[in-house]
Amino acid sequence: MKLMVTGGCGFIGSNFILRMLESYPDVRIVNLDLLTYAGNLENLQDAKKYGQRHIFVRGDITDMDLVDSLLQDGPDAVINFAAESHVDRSIMDSSAFVRTNVLGTQVLLDACRRHGVKRFVQISTDEVYGSLGSEGVFTEMNPLAPNSPYAASKAAADLLVRSYHKTFGMDVLITRCSNNYGPFQFPEKLIPLMITNAVCDSRLPVYGDGLNVRDWIHVQDHCRAIDLVLRKGSSGEVYNIGAENEVPNLEIVRHILKRLEKPESLIKFVKDRPGHDRRYAMDASKLRTELGWKPRIDFQTGMDETVLWYLEHEEWWRRIKSGQYMTYYEEWYADR
Ligand code: NAD
Ligand code: DAU
Repeated sequence: MKLMVTGGCGFIGSNFILRMLESYPDVRIVNLDLLTYAGNLENLQDAKKYGQRHIFVRGDITDMDLVDSLLQDGPDAVINFAAESHVDRSIMDSSAFVRTNVLGTQVLLDACRRHGVKRFVQISTDEVYGSLGSEGVFTEMNPLAPNSPYAASKAAADLLVRSYHKTFGMDVLITRCSNNYGPFQFPEKLIPLMITNAVCDSRLPVYGDGLNVRDWIHVQDHCRAIDLVLRKGSSGEVYNIGAENEVPNLEIVRHILKRLEKPESLIKFVKDRPGHDRRYAMDASKLRTELGWKPRIDFQTGMDETVLWYLEHEEWWRRIKSGQYMTYYEEWYADR
C-alpha cells in the first residue's frame, strides 16, 4: 500500500506514520510537511530504520504544482493531518488557519481527483460540533457549530470534503476525534504545557475556573482508529473517535502536579480563552459497532507514560521552548 500522509511531522501524524511503518511491512509512505513551528523531523527519528519506506518531502499542501507532482505516482490513499492546530493561535491570527486548513484541503482534494487517488481521509476534530452544556454527547448527526477560528476552518474543510463526495463521487472519509495526549505533543497544548512548566517550577496558567471539560484519548488509540477507518470505513462517512473519558482541566493539572511532586501553588487562574468551549464529549458508537474499535489505553496508565516520556525527553521540549515559542508564549500569556 502506498500512502501520502500530510502533516506527518506533527504530533498525531508522526505517531501515525511510525505505527503504520511498524504494523505493515508493505506500507510505503510519502510524508508532505511544511515544517511549520509545530513540525519536527526529530519526531520521526525512528522512521530511519525503515529506509525508503518513508520519504519526507518538505512542502506546503497549498502548493498545487508540488502536490500534483507527488501524486503522479498514484498513492492508494491520502491522509490529511496537515493543519494549523492550536485554538489560541487562531484567536491571535486566523489567516494561516484559513490558508492551510481550508485552501490546503481543497488543493489536496482537487489533486486527488485529477490523479485518481482511491481514498481521501480527512483528519478532523470534535471542535466542529461546538460546545456542550453539562448533558449530552456529540454524534455524527450533530450540526456543525464551530466557535473558534480554528474550529471554523476545520468545519469548512469537512464541508469541502463532503462536497467532493456528493459532487464528484470521490471516495472520502472524515474522522472527528476528541483531545489527544501522548508523546511528541507540542508544548503549547494543555497536558505538555503543564508538565513542562511544572518541571521548570513555572506558573501553570489555567483558563477561567478550570472546569471546562475535554474528552481525552491517547494518540495511539486515535491512530489505530484512523488505520481502521482507512482500511474498512464506508465511503462518504464521518466517524467520531473518542474514549469516553471526560476530565475537567483542573483535575488534569492537579494530577500532573501530584505525579511530579510539585505544589498546587504553581497553579495560576488566568483570564479565560475568548469563546472557550465548555465541554466536549464524543459518542463513538458508530466506530465501535461498525468497525470493532475500542480504546486500549486507560487514562491513568496513558498519563503516567506521557509524564514519563516528557521527563525522559527533556532535550526535545527544551529545544522547542527556547526558540520562537517563547515569543508566542509571552505574547499570548502576557495579559492573562
Ligand atoms: P500539529 O500542530 O502537532 O501538527 C501539524 C503538522 O502540520 C505540523 O507538522 C506542521 O508542520 C504541518 N503543517 C502545517 N501547515 C502545513 C502546510 N501548509 N503544509 C504542509 N504541512 C503543514 O497538529 P496535531 O495535533 O498533530 O493535529 C493533526 C491533525 O489532527 C490536525 O488536522 C488537527 O486538526 C487534528 N486533530 C488534532 C487533535 C489533537 O488533540 N491534537 C484532535 C483531533 C483532531
Ligand atoms: O478537541 C480536539 C482539539 O483538541 C483539537 O482539534 C485541537 O487541535 C487541539 O489543540 C485541542 O484543542 P483544545 O483547545 O481543547 O486543546 P488545548 O490543549 O489548547 O486546551 C485544552 C483545555 O485546556 C481547554 O479547555 C483550554 C485549557 N487550557 C489550555 C491552555 C493551553 C488552559 O486552561 N490553559 C492553557 O494554557
